[in-house]
Amino acid sequence: MEKWRAADRLLKFSSRFASAVNWNNSCKSKQGKYFYSVATTVHRNPLFSSISPDDISYFKTILGERGVVQDALALDAANTDWMGKYRGSSKLLLQPKNTEEVSQILKYCNSRCLAVVPQGGNTGLVGGSVPVFDEVIINVGLMRNILSFDKVIVSGVLVCEAGCILENLISFLDDEGFIMPLDLGAKGSCQIGGNVSTNAGGLRLLRYGSLHGSVLGLEAVLANGTVLDMLGTLRKDNTGYDLKHLFIGSEGSLGIVTKVSILTPPKLSSVNIAFLACEDYTSCQKLLLEAKKKLGGILSAFEFLDSDAMSLVLKHLDGVRNPLPPSIHNFYILIETTGSNETFDKENLEAFLLHSVESGLVANGVLAQDINQASSFWHIREGLPEALMKAGAVYKYDLSLPLEKMYDLVEEMRVQIGPAAKVVAYGHLGDGNLHLNISAPAYDDNILAKIEPFVYEWTSKNRGSISAEHGLGLMKAAKIHYSKSPETVQVMASIKKLLDPNGILNPYKVLPSSLFSQN
Ligand code: FAD
Ligand code: MLT
Ligand code: ZN
Repeated sequence: MEKWRAADRLLKFSSRFASAVNWNNSCKSKQGKYFYSVATTVHRNPLFSSISPDDISYFKTILGERGVVQDALALDAANTDWMGKYRGSSKLLLQPKNTEEVSQILKYCNSRCLAVVPQGGNTGLVGGSVPVFDEVIINVGLMRNILSFDKVIVSGVLVCEAGCILENLISFLDDEGFIMPLDLGAKGSCQIGGNVSTNAGGLRLLRYGSLHGSVLGLEAVLANGTVLDMLGTLRKDNTGYDLKHLFIGSEGSLGIVTKVSILTPPKLSSVNIAFLACEDYTSCQKLLLEAKKKLGGILSAFEFLDSDAMSLVLKHLDGVRNPLPPSIHNFYILIETTGSNETFDKENLEAFLLHSVESGLVANGVLAQDINQASSFWHIREGLPEALMKAGAVYKYDLSLPLEKMYDLVEEMRVQIGPAAKVVAYGHLGDGNLHLNISAPAYDDNILAKIEPFVYEWTSKNRGSISAEHGLGLMKAAKIHYSKSPETVQVMASIKKLLDPNGILNPYKVLPSSLFSQN
């Protein structure tokens, strides 16, 4: 099913000016409300070199003039993250066309101690995809070939270069009768290499699981230029340590992903979408349990938003209307089913909805009657990141929490913040993933002091994770201890030191800089 997504239209616009061919747009779509003062909390590693004219000449011999970007507008876009919250001051963007070029660039940077930031579609939400200081930006966006697709006996294994845009892979597979096992609002700009490097979750995780399950193989280049060929296409391979998993979710801190092999499910013909209202959070939880029991194998998404999230979308996104007029309800749930028997699936969902209304779990609801209505339901949920951007500054928290505790945090946060900012909650309820957003007119340290460390302490106390799907990036590198034990963090730091002894790959991100200060 082709969905219309406004957040994605915005992203496509911003991706155009981040592309190699058109640098003419300004970065105004990034809201121009810079910047969160994070660089004050980390210091540039004095062991890193600065770019010299000789370096530029060397890169031109490898990549040619076109692959060495120094244009101010292009650099402005590449230095600034999607939210307009994090901003680096890199003077150089490199655009390799193949693995060999990536390898040569990294080998050289390592020998010169030049720090680098791997960048994909630059849609990351934790400040991981942009430089903190003057790191060299390496974007594999020109590596966008589909290398093979095996659909014999429903194998569905896709092998492609890391710079392929997720949406292009989705379209390619659609023609072949398959789908990508992941889908997210940023699909028009994000690259599969970025998705793998963040272990992106998104809207289909409930059904198809995490990328740790569907990625079958990878090719990655280490800091010293060594190419690791782990590009297997086998379902089963127990020959020693499965190193590809180190790169899935390592946010560019261990290597640059250059190729990906991924298992894709067949496309199923029958998709149904319902938009429902619940009056309390307990009903939302019970509804999820019921949906898992009654819809079982055909349940493909279970998303939620609260009334503040709904009000925000209605206020800031053009053409959006609440499909359940006239009153505002406390919670909204979007349920999607995907199966192969149209009559049975629809009847199954209708019976489930009827029962949920009769039992009082659902206060009101509507089943999409056509593709336009289905798209408009998705648009409400997927438009939330864009609506938050339009509303002003946003503090984003992406948490895994026990389902029964999840909304307690939202309510406590409202008390904690008071009238200074709006607390807006939505997320992938089916995966126990809350997106807690604090929306304020501008970034303000007084507001931040009310949110942190409260939000991290609360999450840790309830044995949640401070990053369900967005990663740690720069935002949460120093907060990792809220979710990982000191021993685990030490092993992570040892792995980082083994694979990247000079620490050139995405410095200041993922792990606390203090662990590497003796470098
Ligand atoms: P970037 O943002 O460019 O980079 C992200 C991280 O990966 C950085 O640390 C970067 O250094 C590293 N990286 C990028 N490419 C490579 C590479 N080839 N090799 C090594 N490291 C690399 N995320 C979710 O998980 N679920 C969602 O539902 C979701 N929805 C979103 C909706 C919107 C509107 C937006 C703006 C973002 C959303 N995100 C979501 C966050 C983001 O889109 C994902 O994290 C995505 O996977 C990032 O891909 P990217 O290509 O843009 O990577
Ligand atoms: C989403 O689920 O919409 C994304 O993860 C982005 C966000 O949290 O705003
Ligand atoms: Zn999400």
